[in-house]
Amino acid sequence: MKRSRGRVFLVVGGLVTTIGCAPEGVIPSSGQPPGWDDGIRLPAAADINPDPSVVELNLEARPAPQSYVAGRPTTMWTFDGMVPGPMIRARVGDRVVVHFRNGLPEETTIHWHGLRISAAMDGMPDHSQPPIQPGGSFVYDFVVPDASTFWYHPHVNSAVQEGNGLYGAFIVDDPSEPPGLGDEVVMVLSDLGVNDDGSLQARDSGGDLGTLFGREGNVLLVNGKVRPTLKARPGLRQRWRFINAAKARYFQIGLEGHSFTRIGGDGGLLTAPVDVAQPVITPGERMDLIVTPEGDAGSELVVKWIAFDRGFGTAYNRPPEDMFVVKLEGTRAEPSPMPLVRRDIPPLAIDGATQIDLTLTQVSTTPFQLGINGVAYKDSEPLMADVGETQVWTVTNTIVFAHPFHLHGFFFQVLSPERPLEWKDTVDIPVDGTVRFAVRYDNRPGMWMFHCHILDHADAGMMGALMVMDPHSH
Ligand code: C2O
Ligand code: CU
Repeated sequence: MKRSRGRVFLVVGGLVTTIGCAPEGVIPSSGQPPGWDDGIRLPAAADINPDPSVVELNLEARPAPQSYVAGRPTTMWTFDGMVPGPMIRARVGDRVVVHFRNGLPEETTIHWHGLRISAAMDGMPDHSQPPIQPGGSFVYDFVVPDASTFWYHPHVNSAVQEGNGLYGAFIVDDPSEPPGLGDEVVMVLSDLGVNDDGSLQARDSGGDLGTLFGREGNVLLVNGKVRPTLKARPGLRQRWRFINAAKARYFQIGLEGHSFTRIGGDGGLLTAPVDVAQPVITPGERMDLIVTPEGDAGSELVVKWIAFDRGFGTAYNRPPEDMFVVKLEGTRAEPSPMPLVRRDIPPLAIDGATQIDLTLTQVSTTPFQLGINGVAYKDSEPLMADVGETQVWTVTNTIVFAHPFHLHGFFFQVLSPERPLEWKDTVDIPVDGTVRFAVRYDNRPGMWMFHCHILDHADAGMMGALMVMDPHSH
């Protein structure tokens, strides 16, 4: 029998339970409170393929009304009528087939952020595939090679399409991961720019200065909801997997009286957990955190967004905002030791690696253009690399705003500034900062992209292409 992918089996305090519902007639004696994640859980995509190693689904992008402003409808752009879109869940090595239909009034593609799949399935318009026309469709078909928290979003007119609500979670599970890490909640973080009458803010609000700042929405969303509630049992671990799908907003997360244990990031588990008081997640990044909510039953904890200074006035005079509420219920759980989370990540050998120097720049003011090495994307030539090659990229920021820099298709290892080793696909390049990372191109030749994940910046030209060649076919 096929395992239901809508529910995830976890071992909690020695009992096997399912997230979302206790077996009928059984009152959990040591689990989370009944219905603990009902107010926040992402709907799962329906798998239409009975083969246990194939996840197959239909997915449609289409406008649909949602309501955020005093009951007034806002026409957002959605996958299957939902914001975020349905959560896709597979196991390492599974084949995933997505029958996608474009019900939007303009062309689009889907990019599978972080998944190391073939260039032909990466959703890069005009290279992977022609953009999908309104009413058109495309079948994405690939095998998922890595376990981690990923996500999907369009790659055409991105600030508008993603900003209007097109994004969804994509989790790849590793069946050999130690059980008992904590009851899992996947949370897609975003925001929405909406006017008092419920209409979406203009794409060019604030003009070129708005583009330079990166437009943040005025309504903060967690799984498409304003200030949702999650229940927790005091003393019982939860595992919060965050995805920052906002088009410009950085999320710095604070929970008074608590700190977090980070076990994973973009590219799966870390070599060892690290404690972090207020995690910062840039647009595009993911973070896998363990938290043990503590407090009296009946009390509420509020998880806060705390302004992070990503440059020129971006944190000025901005009070914390509520993200979601954790309502404590039940007697305090007996403490149970955290399972060992260890992963061997061999550092990439960088002797003799090709050096690539990139500078993030403003190209022109009229028209307003950003770029890389003084060139906007539309005028740029692709970087070149060979399958099997290792390169060291040095990315320097010359603009007074930070840029979350994302490379498609390949994980990299940050060399400096020094930090715990992990696989990443998106990294913050701070104001006046330089980040060096090493990347090795496995055997997936083709055209790939790299860009700032502040989507106004990407759309304004801060994007480039990378051609990975198979040396045997030169
Ligand atoms: Cu998530 Cu090219 O991006
Ligand atoms: Cu940027």
